[in-house]
Amino acid sequence: MSDHTNHDYESGHSSHQSPGKREMSRRQFLSYTLGGTGGFLAAGIVIPMIRFAVDPVLQPKAKADWVKVVEESKITDKPQAFKFPVHQIDGWYESDVELETWITKGSDGKIFALNPTCKHLGCTVDWNSNPSLKDQYFCPCHGAHYTIDGKNLAVAPAPLDEYDVKVENGFVYVGQLHANHRV
Ligand code: FES
Repeated sequence: MSDHTNHDYESGHSSHQSPGKREMSRRQFLSYTLGGTGGFLAAGIVIPMIRFAVDPVLQPKAKADWVKVVEESKITDKPQAFKFPVHQIDGWYESDVELETWITKGSDGKIFALNPTCKHLGCTVDWNSNPSLKDQYFCPCHGAHYTIDGKNLAVAPAPLDEYDVKVENGFVYVGQLHANHRV
């Protein structure tokens, strides 16, 4: 009886799984195991690299810090250009650059600061540089011109951008750049 059972067991075993099939199973097992381990290790290396590369780009840009530019007493109703240093973070690239702003005391008594980057294609505008366009900002590239408040009069599709301004302890500070609120 027990012989018969053993025989059945052995014969059943041998008739359902040939040596070739057992070999294939082992191979599959190894390839799954090694493949899974390799994938796990690769993910451990690659995912942090991707995060390192992409993260700075996806981070929301921080609000600009206030930068001290000039004594308040120097500001008049005629626009004047001033340079100021900024630490820029563009994705994973950091740099120290010098920017320029034109600061004026408006007819409302408020000090305001314009960005001289032309809203047409990005050249730099200048104040009163075209004799036929008196008391205006003028762009030498394609002739855009703007009022003292930065309002676009020709060529450019939008007013000059404006910096946030605050006056503290007798100094003018500029902050975040944004669309022009004066015009
Ligand atoms: S870039 Fe200023 S007019 Fe074109």
